[in-house]
Amino acid sequence: MEIIRIPRIMQDTAKGHSLRGRSIGFVPTMGALHEGHLSLVRRAKSENDITVVSIFVNPLQFSPSEDFERYPSDYEGDSKKLKGEEVDILFMPDITMIYPEGFSTHVEVENLSEKLCGLFRPGHFRGVTTVVTKLFNVVKPTRAYFGQKDFQQCVIIKKMVRHLNMDIEVVVCPTIRESDGLAMSSRNSYLNKEERRAASVISRCLAQTIELIKSGIIDKEHIKRFMLAKLSEEPLVTEIQYASVYDAENLDEVEKVGKEAIVAIALKIGSTRLIDNMLVKVLIKPGEESRDAAESLYTDT
Ligand code: PAJ
Repeated sequence: MEIIRIPRIMQDTAKGHSLRGRSIGFVPTMGALHEGHLSLVRRAKSENDITVVSIFVNPLQFSPSEDFERYPSDYEGDSKKLKGEEVDILFMPDITMIYPEGFSTHVEVENLSEKLCGLFRPGHFRGVTTVVTKLFNVVKPTRAYFGQKDFQQCVIIKKMVRHLNMDIEVVVCPTIRESDGLAMSSRNSYLNKEERRAASVISRCLAQTIELIKSGIIDKEHIKRFMLAKLSEEPLVTEIQYASVYDAENLDEVEKVGKEAIVAIALKIGSTRLIDNMLVKVLIKPGEESRDAAESLYTDT
């Protein structure tokens, strides 16, 4: 595995591969790698000639009150894991290489970035879209891989790629979970034993909400009440930021679950903020009250 730290060298290397007709699969990450990240790596490897993974903890997507300074890092462990996956290139730039003094250009996807997580993390998605644009320009991927775990991030990046005519295929991969259902996340390491146990309430609530919708309850107010009641049963939940059902494209809350919707939760356990979501597809037969619903994975078609 080649480790590249200089954007110019990464760019030239990527150009070399493109000239030879090789496809590049790219997995951007902030490190502290777990099986969720590695599932994206495996998918990228299976679909491309060359696989590039980046590790860069992007200060632009953290607000001053957030955990940038204490974000988990394990560069040795990460590079060992990536070598084990036979990744071709690890791109690990220094902060000054990405944001030289006087950096003042940003990319923002309006309307989507202010919703859901954006309400509680102002500027977060502007930071994400700015760094992902820079990484795309440096790594020049054929395909880029993102996790459904960060659903809003996927929707925003897909829109950015479309609106800015980036010639990149965005591939969204399923959420990888722990055995009790908790979505894997680098931030899970902040949880103590009791909080870790409590955190399983999120995926349990999502799964039960999907069952509720499948049983024919498609009204937003009813669904929200159900979700809030479930989450409130867990005393270690300190703040529920959102818990409802949303349109999978524009991320607005839906009044009634129609075609495809996303059930999503953001909450705090202690001081740790956790998010998760599941997709639900409801096929409503005209004139009938019965519904045939199926969970689906959000794939780029
Ligand atoms: P990070 O949180 O490190 O996540 C990197 C990628 O791994 C993202 O696409 C994320 O959705 C995916 N991922 C995380 N947990 C996952 C899980 N349990 N199952 C499947 N995929 C999972 O997301 C970021 O970094 C940053 O915002 C980034 C895109 C790198 C820009 O800085």
